[in-house]
Amino acid sequence: MSISSPARFVRPVVRQLNAYVPGEQPKEKRLIKLNTNENPYPPAPKVLSAIRDAVDGRLRLYPNPTAQPLREKLAKLHGCTPDHILIGNGSDEVLALLVRAFAEPQASLKNESQVSKARVQYFWPSYSLYPVLTDLHGAIRHPIALPPDFSIPNALALRRLGWDTKAALTLVTTPNAPSGRGYSMSELEALCIRQRGVIVLDEAYVDFAAENAMELALRHPHVLVSRTFSKAYSLCFQRVGYVVGHPELIGALAKLKDSYNVNGLGQVAALATLDNLPYYQKNFLLVCATRQRVASALSEMGFRVLPSQTNFLLVEPSGHPADEWHARLRKRGFLVRWFSSPEVRHYLRISIGTDAEMDALLVAVRREMKN
Ligand SMILES: Cc1ncc(COP(=O)(O)O)c(C=O)c1O
Repeated sequence: MSISSPARFVRPVVRQLNAYVPGEQPKEKRLIKLNTNENPYPPAPKVLSAIRDAVDGRLRLYPNPTAQPLREKLAKLHGCTPDHILIGNGSDEVLALLVRAFAEPQASLKNESQVSKARVQYFWPSYSLYPVLTDLHGAIRHPIALPPDFSIPNALALRRLGWDTKAALTLVTTPNAPSGRGYSMSELEALCIRQRGVIVLDEAYVDFAAENAMELALRHPHVLVSRTFSKAYSLCFQRVGYVVGHPELIGALAKLKDSYNVNGLGQVAALATLDNLPYYQKNFLLVCATRQRVASALSEMGFRVLPSQTNFLLVEPSGHPADEWHARLRKRGFLVRWFSSPEVRHYLRISIGTDAEMDALLVAVRREMKN
């Protein structure tokens, strides 16, 4: 950087940041998108009409600053009060608030013995936004390697791996992404109970799983559960997520958020979604059935398919290296996700689409196996 470059105005932490890389949102309509774990089914018809009905002169007004009606409805759903819930502009915003509220920037530590106060701890691989948010806040990344089957190690093994029970903030993606592996409530509770700092269960994909751990957020004051309307509720476009936990922690997050962090149409859409849950519950079953069928078909073709409790599959392909598969499938009109990080570079992550989309994918895979 030359001394005259405008980049000199940018804080070093921002200049040096390896920003999060979102999955591609292609301009080409012909591509079938199986790369960002979006739901293949549209929102319920009544949700679409609720959004349409809200598009009128009211757009000139600010939305409810705390999304109060949505918090009230979610509180009924989860058996708590609205002050246990904070709504975010997607759960990504919630995660950013968590880091800012609970982890100290490293520069504010007085000595090495305080290191846990600045640690953001997470299993790796998991959601690749966690290290980015940590870096941006000037906190300390504390990744703990998952074993090859992506299971949560027992307490002894965790200690050997450097697990810090006093880390200021621990983020657990459950079910795990990108592996799809699910975790039981009891193993998550065992992990939570040992933790002295705040622990967040990021349940972005939990509606496709066998179990959820929401009750831990209501039982333990240092446990929070984050959820999103993006994946299971087909609302990526609207950006609505939330976190549930002790009112004093939720109150701290509320102090940090933007005044009107959740846009009005997003609030309308999420409220209408909660009035139409049976529509979505049918879709979860459909996605899980398709997931099972595609997993079997790919296994028969020699792919190693990891068990999944999400709306995607992590697969180790056969015949060609994973990055080559990624390129070959793109040429055939399918966008899947390939990550370059060493732990997962042998895998492809394939979101579950409609049955027709997945059938077309299987045909393309069969053809490429012969080339
Ligand atoms: C594990 C995990 N958490 C959170 C999110 C963020 O979801 P959103 O910001 O759309 O609510 C994602 C999105 O990919 C995710 O994979």
